[in-house]
Amino acid sequence: MSYLFPNYTRDSIDLVDGDGCYVYDQDQRRYLDFTSGIGVTNLGHKHPKVLQALTDQTTKIWHSSNLYTNHLQEQVAQKLTMGKDYLTFFCNSGTEANEAAIKLARKATGRTKILSFTQSFHGRTYGALSATGQPALQTGFYPIVAGFDYLPYNQLKPLKEKLTDDVAAVILEVIQGEGGIIPAEKQWLQTVARLCHENNSLLIVDEIQSGMGRTGNFFAFEAYEIKPDIITLAKALANGIPAGAMLGKVELAEAFGPGTHGTTFGGNNLAMQVAKTVVTEINQPAFLSAVAAKGNDLKEGLTQLIDQIAKVTAVRGSGLMIGVELDSPETLQKVLVELKQQQLLALKAGQTVLRLLPPLTISQAELMQGLKIIQQVLLN
Ligand SMILES: Cc1ncc(COP(=O)(O)O)c(C=O)c1O
Repeated sequence: MSYLFPNYTRDSIDLVDGDGCYVYDQDQRRYLDFTSGIGVTNLGHKHPKVLQALTDQTTKIWHSSNLYTNHLQEQVAQKLTMGKDYLTFFCNSGTEANEAAIKLARKATGRTKILSFTQSFHGRTYGALSATGQPALQTGFYPIVAGFDYLPYNQLKPLKEKLTDDVAAVILEVIQGEGGIIPAEKQWLQTVARLCHENNSLLIVDEIQSGMGRTGNFFAFEAYEIKPDIITLAKALANGIPAGAMLGKVELAEAFGPGTHGTTFGGNNLAMQVAKTVVTEINQPAFLSAVAAKGNDLKEGLTQLIDQIAKVTAVRGSGLMIGVELDSPETLQKVLVELKQQQLLALKAGQTVLRLLPPLTISQAELMQGLKIIQQVLLN
């Protein structure tokens, strides 16, 4: 029997070790990891520099609280904001980063409404769940937080109608992750950013899955040439040590004055020492262009299958955030099982999308090995 709540559908394998882009189960069976722990271990398992950062900090102070100055938080914030006009608040997870964003948006604008999009995913706590445009995830938990509305993604007319002068913020993912690897159209997103600005509504971009180099840019929104008012991060920020962050434009500082918001663990020394290393490693032009190049190869290899295999209907995404749309949920389930049998772990997104999120550090040879396994399983 299990002593855990049954709120996850768990596979029977128990991953007890990891090295680079491989993970090992309780029977020492090795798998090529195309999940990165759902977009978390972007630098792979046991990355030497990340391991060093963590072990160095374990011999110093682990936790000092947010009552004191924290030079590590300052250093990570400086790296994340890259001299652009943002300030940072640290927390422990994606949902908390979005909670902070929603609270900041309401307080800074004095408005209440938040517009979000269908198929979006922003987290499970009440504010973030209320921003999540998937009724199935809200069912049973009503009443959710008031003031949220959900609009069709990549459509302008409904947004124009709803973007009234009581809208505090629009929250969106540049590539919807859980919803099925659905990228925003560039012109649409640029218009959304402009309309928000004209309406004095804040644009919150949730980079929790798409950020930290995943798409070949440090932030996925960079490819869209927009400047969000608020950016949320988590998942890969500390490569598996829980960490989240909300970046907001400097002019929002007044709304988050002393005592307005906080967390006990957020920005703790262990997570920050690791995050400092992770951000430094990822945010280098050569590293990011290698992610983009590997992503192009993976996408190209999969796109070829659309004409060859009837059950593959589309391939979407950027960098190493790729979705393969299959013809049915049953096909997806079967493909995931067969990939596991071939010792490759992958993810699902939406009901029919095979989601591939390998570590960004994957070598070309490992990537091609993974692609070959996926091609063979899909051809089956
Ligand atoms: C885009 C996005 N936002 C928010 C979250 C929630 O993050 P967490 O599970 O760390 O609360 C996720 C998690 O999958 C996500 O993909």
